[in-house]
Amino acid sequence: MLPKLLLSLLPLVVPVLSQAGAQYVDPDNGIPFWGLTEPVHGMTLGWIFPPLDSTGSLANEFIGEIVAPIDTLWAGVSPGGQMLQNLLLVAWPYDGSIVRSARYATDYVQPLAMSGPVLTDLPSTKVPKLRYTGTNSIPVNTFGVPAWVFSSIGVDTPADPQSTFQEHTDFGFFGLDWSQAHASADDYNNWAAGGTGGGTPTTTISTPTTTPTQPPVTATPYDYIVVGAGPGGLITADRLSEAGKSVLLLERGGPSTAQTGGTYGPTWAQGHNLTKFDIPGLFETMFTDSNPFWWCKDVNSFAGCLLGGGTSINGALYWIPPDSDFSPYVGWPTSWGNHGPYTAKVKSRLPSTDHPSTDGKRYLEQVSTVVSQLLNAQGYTQITINDNPDFKDHSYGYSAYDFLNGKRGGPVATYLQTAKIRKNFTLKQYVYVLNVVRNGAQITGVKTNDTSLGPDGVIPLTSKGRVILSAGSFATPRILFRSGIGPSDMINLVQNDATAGPNLPPQNQWINLPVGMNVQDNPSINLVFTHPSVDAYDNWAQVWANPRPADSSQYLKDQSGVLSQASPRMNFWRAYGASDQRTRYLQGTARPGAASVTTVYPYNASQIWTITVYLSTGITSRGRIGIDAALTARALVNPWFTDPVDKQVLIQGINDVLSTVRNVSGLTLITPDNTTTITDYVNNYDPGSLNSNHWVGSCSIGNSSSTAVVDQNTKVFNTNNLFVIDASIIPGMPMGNPHGMLMSAAEQGVAKVLNLTGGP
Ligand SMILES: Cc1cc2nc3c(=O)[nH]c(=O)nc-3n(C[C@H](O)[C@H](O)[C@H](O)COP(=O)(O)OP(=O)(O)OC[C@H]3O[C@@H](n4cnc5c(N)ncnc54)[C@H](O)[C@@H]3O)c2cc1C
Ligand SMILES: *[C@@H]1O[C@H](CO)[C@@H](O)[C@H](O)[C@H]1NC(C)=O
Ligand SMILES: *[C@@H]1O[C@H](CO)[C@@H](O)[C@H](O)[C@H]1NC(C)=O
Ligand SMILES: *[C@@H]1O[C@H](CO)[C@@H](O)[C@H](O)[C@H]1NC(C)=O
Ligand SMILES: *[C@@H]1O[C@H](CO)[C@@H](O)[C@H](O)[C@H]1NC(C)=O
Ligand SMILES: *[C@@H]1O[C@H](CO)[C@@H](O)[C@H](O)[C@H]1NC(C)=O
Ligand SMILES: *[C@@H]1O[C@H](CO)[C@@H](O)[C@H](O)[C@H]1NC(C)=O
Ligand SMILES: *[C@@H]1O[C@H](CO)[C@@H](O)[C@H](O)[C@H]1NC(C)=O
Ligand SMILES: *[C@@H]1O[C@H](CO)[C@@H](O)[C@H](O)[C@H]1NC(C)=O
Repeated sequence: MLPKLLLSLLPLVVPVLSQAGAQYVDPDNGIPFWGLTEPVHGMTLGWIFPPLDSTGSLANEFIGEIVAPIDTLWAGVSPGGQMLQNLLLVAWPYDGSIVRSARYATDYVQPLAMSGPVLTDLPSTKVPKLRYTGTNSIPVNTFGVPAWVFSSIGVDTPADPQSTFQEHTDFGFFGLDWSQAHASADDYNNWAAGGTGGGTPTTTISTPTTTPTQPPVTATPYDYIVVGAGPGGLITADRLSEAGKSVLLLERGGPSTAQTGGTYGPTWAQGHNLTKFDIPGLFETMFTDSNPFWWCKDVNSFAGCLLGGGTSINGALYWIPPDSDFSPYVGWPTSWGNHGPYTAKVKSRLPSTDHPSTDGKRYLEQVSTVVSQLLNAQGYTQITINDNPDFKDHSYGYSAYDFLNGKRGGPVATYLQTAKIRKNFTLKQYVYVLNVVRNGAQITGVKTNDTSLGPDGVIPLTSKGRVILSAGSFATPRILFRSGIGPSDMINLVQNDATAGPNLPPQNQWINLPVGMNVQDNPSINLVFTHPSVDAYDNWAQVWANPRPADSSQYLKDQSGVLSQASPRMNFWRAYGASDQRTRYLQGTARPGAASVTTVYPYNASQIWTITVYLSTGITSRGRIGIDAALTARALVNPWFTDPVDKQVLIQGINDVLSTVRNVSGLTLITPDNTTTITDYVNNYDPGSLNSNHWVGSCSIGNSSSTAVVDQNTKVFNTNNLFVIDASIIPGMPMGNPHGMLMSAAEQGVAKVLNLTGGP
């Protein structure tokens, strides 16, 4: 529906009558307005619209009032809420009457006179009435967040309706359900012609019109609202607050490590202030716990919904990115190629270690010895992996992590700690962001499930404010769909949802972008072996309830030993050419234990170990992330092996890894066993098990809105002030497990946001 605006002003002092964002009847004219009385200055703002199905000029107007104490030097109201590209009606008393005008700002300067709106006095009250036609709209059939402004400093030339004035001295937002604020055509026309009273309430919701029964919810506006406290959001929020911006970080989950107030840990660690999320050796138990409260229940893939996101529950394998991770070869714009300074920032905040035990020793390393024998026979070189990030062909080394002091480190132990001591950084946990609130291209705030944070849960931005989505590869697309941004099939699913549908902007404001397309994840295949030297460590099955006593007491003593490291022990990479002339990289991760074994032969379960073989940089297969009718986020098209060349290369790579098994005395491949060929094993592999939890690309960065969702500054195309900084912007598979390169990308992304003009 098109915009329709109108206003009348009453130069009266009227007692506080209404609740925030509710219906009240003005005692002077008997009109049942929808609006609020804000408590600080005692201003009442109200609107009433003609019926929703009005046509012609009637569809483009409303009757409204600003009732302010007579000592207000000027006051105003913005039905759209934000300063830019929104109507602002201002008024002040002068010489026994009211001077008023319609203003419109295209930049953060004095709002200029607006051409188009027509102000008309309502005969009954001898105050102006405004008829407006323009490009700007009030979402008359849904919920909105209008703003009021107030000033205790007079305008420069009170006699002149177009007088200049200083910035308001106070302002605020409130929620209003515009869809309720409609009268019958007869009533509306009566009031517009100067008639009074007679209005039948438009809804059955009865609102006390004499005494406020509860205080109106007020909201604090922020310069930046960052959604999601995973690695992307934590780095973004830290750097924004460091730059002096007011920052609100919203996280749907709660504490993780003990440092963040987490308390969930194994019995054997009780009293030691160590949680499941702190103790590296508990990584494998993330998948076997009976109460896994940390997984996002509305994402149909593993995703961490707690402080730290994936970095609080992942294996913490941590790779300093090679240059190729930011190259056009994997889809990055050339402007992102100089990652060095950003990668250096991450390294200085969060060093890597391939010997996380606090005593500097390595534990449970039998697998490492076997893997080096296997790979040495294939011409591989052993290196310290993060000392040579670009050496990724025929190289291997000890697994590297971002554990600190024998405990989970990551962005929670570093970036969050510097952010949280700043006064201008606010973290709110257990707050679920449903959608951004926007007026066309302009984002005005976010809608959350917490109505204590703002009217109807809406938290506004300051005048030049920005929203940054960092909710991860599944949840960021869902927030965009729920905000009317993405392919129309996804937005239609939202529209059909009884709860989410009404929060969508009108269809003419939907923004078509390839959200959810272009998705990648490493296809990965497990190979299981036995070797007489290997200690399978009970496949980590006992570490939660019944750890080896020597290991748990060593860990409790000084965070050293087997439990100071996650399960991986060795990693390797190799490059492959292929029939399509592209180079693809193979990664291997080796660990003691195995999740499942399929063989017709007997084997010794105490000696099992696994190599997971992944295909990474250079893969061409793409899938799609979306939502279903329940708004659960899921892969709509699996991203593995949609291009058969990827599968050919992975099969070749697995055959190469296995080519020297016989050169290692005592080594036996048990899954697949010798009754199954590698080609059959890969062809028959359960597609769901190909998942590596390394999803990228669902909001790819790029230079065109036809192929990408965010531009080179991470701004969502066709919006003014909405950004994405998380794994979803990574346009193609990086070389290794992604969180290290993602943190470099977040450092670079937030630097670009801060450098972009027009912000707060
Ligand atoms: C099981 C597993 C193991 C992994 N192992 C490794 C590994 O060893 N090494 C590695 O490099 N990578 C690993 N990864 C991948 C890595 O953890 C992710 O790539 C990384 O965490 C992505 O970061 P992100 O900031 O994009 O999103 P996330 O880490 O997913 O963070 C998103 C955050 O947003 C919050 N959120 C989501 N929706 C909303 C909402 N609507 N409102 C408010 N908050 C919201 C979530 O609660 C979460 O905290 C693993 C991932 C998984 C799942
Ligand atoms: C925000 O915090 C930073 C760092 O502590 C400080 O320099 C800056 O002045 C603060 N800005 C505001 C608006 O409080
Ligand atoms: C637990 O450890 C964290 C640091 O990791 C510390 O901040 C916190 O105060 C400790 N709590 C208790 C109860 O010792
Ligand atoms: C590996 O074993 C094969 C025979 O099975 C042998 O031909 C080859 O030379 C060995 N390679 C190495 C590097 O020892
Ligand atoms: C909002 O959602 C979060 C995450 O689901 C939940 O923990 C929290 O209790 C919800 N808040 C309210 C007020 O319902
Ligand atoms: C299985 O392996 C363990 C550990 O290497 C060993 O102690 C045990 O004797 C083996 N069992 C058999 C039946 O070979
Ligand atoms: C297949 O593997 C089993 C168990 O390891 C072994 O006994 C058998 O000899 C193997 N057969 C062939 C043909 O290699
Ligand atoms: C846009 O990006 C694509 C690859 O993502 C590239 O081929 C093309 O040259 C780029 N165009 C411009 C103008 O930079
Ligand atoms: C900052 O912006 C200017 C121009 O807007 C650009 O020339 C410069 O490269 C940007 N710097 C960074 C680090 O992106």
